[in-house]
Amino acid sequence: MIRKDIPLSQLQLEVLFTPSDIESAVARLAQEIRLDYRNKNPVLVGVLKGCFVFMADLVRALDIPLEIEFMSLSSYGLGRTESSGKIEVVQGLRGTVRDRHVLVVEDIVDTGITVDFILRYLRRRRPASVGVCALLDKAAGRRVDVPIDYLGFSVPDRFVVGYGLDYDEQFRYLSGLYCLKEDG
Ligand code: IMP
Repeated sequence: MIRKDIPLSQLQLEVLFTPSDIESAVARLAQEIRLDYRNKNPVLVGVLKGCFVFMADLVRALDIPLEIEFMSLSSYGLGRTESSGKIEVVQGLRGTVRDRHVLVVEDIVDTGITVDFILRYLRRRRPASVGVCALLDKAAGRRVDVPIDYLGFSVPDRFVVGYGLDYDEQFRYLSGLYCLKEDG
C-alpha cells in the first residue's frame, strides 16, 4: 500500500486505463443509465472531489434531462490512502430529493464505507429510488457490502490516480487512470 509520507518525486505512474478506454466506458455507462432514467429527470449526486471529471463526462454523454447535486464528505483517522470509517458531511444536499430518482456518482468504491454512508443519508430523505454508478470498483478493499448498479471498471488492490482521483491532492488533472508505484 502506498503511504502518504512517500514524496511525490519517489512515485511512478503505471498506465491502468487510457483516455480512450475511459471514453468507451463512459459511453457504455451512459447508454445503460439512459435506458433506465430517460423519462425520470433523475438527480445525479456526485461525491466531491473525486467525481468531478467523471461527472462532467458522464452527464454530457447521457444527454437526457437531469439535475446535478454535489456532496462533500470528510473522513477522519488514517492517512489519505486509507479510509478511516468515520465520515462527516461537510456539504450536504442543497435541494430536496423526496420522491425523486437519485443516482449516486462515485469515482471509486474501495471499502464501501462512503457509498454505504451516502445511501443511508439519501434514504432518510425519502427518494423514489437510489442507484449507484461507480467508475471504479476496488473489490479487494471491501469492508461493507454495497450495491453498484453501473460500473466502469474493476481495478486491482492498488492506489489509483488521475481522471479526478488524487494522491495527496495531486494528479487529479490527468486524462488517464494510473496506478501509483514506488521508485526502485
Ligand atoms: P471507501 O469509503 O473506502 O469506499 O472510499 C471511497 C473514497 O476513498 C473514494 O471516493 C476516494 O476518494 C478514496 N479512494 C479510495 N481508493 C482510492 C484510490 O485508489 N485512489 C484515490 N482515491 C481513493
